[in-house]
Amino acid sequence: MTDPFASFDASSSFSLDSTLSFADVEPGDGQRWSTWPAITPTERGPQPWPEWVVTSAGALDTELGILKTGKEADVFLIERAVPDDPTQRTLLAAKRYRSEEHRSFHRSTVYTEGRRVQNSRDARALAKKSSFGREVAAAEWSFAEFNALCRMWELGAPVPYPVQVNGTEVLMEFIGTEATAAPRLAQERGDRHVLADYFTQVVDLMRIFAAAGFAHGDLSPYNLLVHESRVRVIDLPQIVDIIANPQGLDLLHRDCVNVCDWFARHRVDCDAEELFAELMASSYA
Ligand SMILES: Nc1ncnc2c1ncn2[C@@H]1O[C@H](COP(=O)(O)OP(=O)(O)OP(=O)(O)O)[C@@H](O)[C@H]1O
Ligand SMILES: [Mg+2]
Repeated sequence: MTDPFASFDASSSFSLDSTLSFADVEPGDGQRWSTWPAITPTERGPQPWPEWVVTSAGALDTELGILKTGKEADVFLIERAVPDDPTQRTLLAAKRYRSEEHRSFHRSTVYTEGRRVQNSRDARALAKKSSFGREVAAAEWSFAEFNALCRMWELGAPVPYPVQVNGTEVLMEFIGTEATAAPRLAQERGDRHVLADYFTQVVDLMRIFAAAGFAHGDLSPYNLLVHESRVRVIDLPQIVDIIANPQGLDLLHRDCVNVCDWFARHRVDCDAEELFAELMASSYA
């Protein structure tokens, strides 16, 4: 798979001459034509698309920089905009999964137990561990994350809106203002009342997951972002079916402990076992 931004140099800058007409525009360094028009409908986010989603074939994707290099994926800040049309401009987070050999971390197979590969060509490639197979394995995670985001978005959970998935790249709503990403909950130093409100929001979102039969599976103050006093949950590729996955209850329990440990250390009154019992009950209801 070719990376249209492979040669992007963060120090280089580009400019678009505002007198150019649309037909004269060519993608510059760190730019590509919007990938939206070529995306299969099932690989676009749930309808109705939020009004800020830019669907024009005349839009350019511009890479503005890297938000974070992670253990298994890198997250970039992208602008998708129609040149000279300020009403069609949006910021997106592009999460790009790396293939196995480029990862510093290997997710345990506990998450993938019971998950099936849709396409038999992909299944054979995965089994053979060819380079195409490794690419398929990375794309499995991007599709898993995209599908989880779609599902949770449709249930009303506070996740970033999933715009599209394209191979190993998920494009989603950027949580933040202009070029400043929202801080992780782990960095928050609010007073006890503010944090108690965040805790209520985290419990609410865990209830939405649990009522649908899922645990996040990697919940921690690093996968919760705080933007304009609202908590948003990210990093969903490993969501687990609480009942069908043999480790489901253990992972739900770990999520409860991770969350409650952090809030308890910040003097918010909470009890991991109580939370676990409540969520477990709602997942069986
Ligand atoms: N939609 C988003 N809006 C704003 N920032 C985001 C978004 N998605 C991810 N980020 C930033 O990128 C970081 C990494 O994202 P994420 O947790 O999904 O990837 P990861 O590969 O699991 O990272 P890690 O290895 O740190 O867990 C987040 O902590 C957050 O700072
Ligand atoms: Mg993360």
